[in-house]
Amino acid sequence: MSRPVTTAATRGAKLPASTRWTTARPTKVRRGGSLDPTRRPAADRYPELVTEGRRAPHPANALNELSGEEWLYFTKSVLTTAYPSELGHAARKAHGANKPPRLMARLIEFFSKSGELVLDPFAGVGGSLLGAAIARGPRRAVGIELDPRWVAIYEALVPALLAEDGGRGPRIVDLGQSDPGGPRRFDPSGSEMRLGDALELLPTVPDATVDLVVTDPPYNIQLPLTMAGGASAAEHTNRRTDYAMVSDSSADLANAPDYPSFLDRMETVFGQVQRVLREGRYAIVIVRDAYQDGRYQFVGSDLAQRAHAVGLVPKGDLIWHQAGTRLRPYGYPRVFVPNIAHQHILVLRREPARAQARRRCSR
Ligand SMILES: C[S@@+](CC[C@H](N)C(=O)[O-])C[C@H]1O[C@@H](n2cnc3c(N)ncnc32)[C@H](O)[C@@H]1O
Repeated sequence: MSRPVTTAATRGAKLPASTRWTTARPTKVRRGGSLDPTRRPAADRYPELVTEGRRAPHPANALNELSGEEWLYFTKSVLTTAYPSELGHAARKAHGANKPPRLMARLIEFFSKSGELVLDPFAGVGGSLLGAAIARGPRRAVGIELDPRWVAIYEALVPALLAEDGGRGPRIVDLGQSDPGGPRRFDPSGSEMRLGDALELLPTVPDATVDLVVTDPPYNIQLPLTMAGGASAAEHTNRRTDYAMVSDSSADLANAPDYPSFLDRMETVFGQVQRVLREGRYAIVIVRDAYQDGRYQFVGSDLAQRAHAVGLVPKGDLIWHQAGTRLRPYGYPRVFVPNIAHQHILVLRREPARAQARRRCSR
């Protein structure tokens, strides 16, 4: 059920009780324009959700609200939880790269605090926004998505979810140790989806105003013929790709003319991400390696290098095992071609200026 939240135009500002608003409004899709995500309302800190049955965070922990145990559990570099189909997955799966909101919530909970501002410049059908809405407690979130098809799915989903269970909202199953930290609730009232090109909208976001960027960009260029296409695709279902993902727009990063151009555009995005992030805060980028044109492409590694080139320092590479990946007989019976059943979750940080200066001095 949605709960009252306090709104604030600026982070940390104290507002009188009269500025409370109570429910998530079905948002109108806003196109293009400029984007100042700091104007999203600040959610309450939901003290009971943060502490209910949980140990208090370490007093020196300025990053998140996790206990020491929860912090440690998260830092394991392989994630193997198979997340249930939930929060409108039947509608969201029209998008072949939709992400489980609960995975996104876990990332958001480690790299931000409740009420802080999360930005996803490649938001798809809203995995990150839904993750922000079920986080303990909710974060403010802004998503940018180029393709109106995906924005429409997200926009229809939010009111439908809020209406579930006689208006109490969606039931989110307790996964116990696979999702430690207690119950989750759904509050999308601080979230907004914007229809537009990230390369146009990001430059309109003010400097150093975002607490966390969490995103899942196009993984690579879209080739007209994939390993799951070709002559045998008509005959064998396991050679067919049965989902749509890429738009016709030339602004779609997946439609970049070639892989180097894709990397160049992503570097421009990373430059903007570095600029809009507050010092010391993180950008979490989910990406899948690829096998294209007869070779393996280390997309995760290539993107981490491009991010580093513009000042986002690589801090980690979490491997997310996608347990349900369908196996396809790509190279069979002649050569090895992998079924890529994992994604990289790159952890990048905008270092505080003093840390950068220290490093420069010690060189
Ligand atoms: C991997 S998907 C993200 C899926 C998302 N995490 C979800 O849960 O649905 C990448 C998305 O980036 C979008 N996209 C591609 N180029 C874009 C651009 N220039 N600006 C904004 N979005 C873009 C695509 O339409 C696609 O939906």
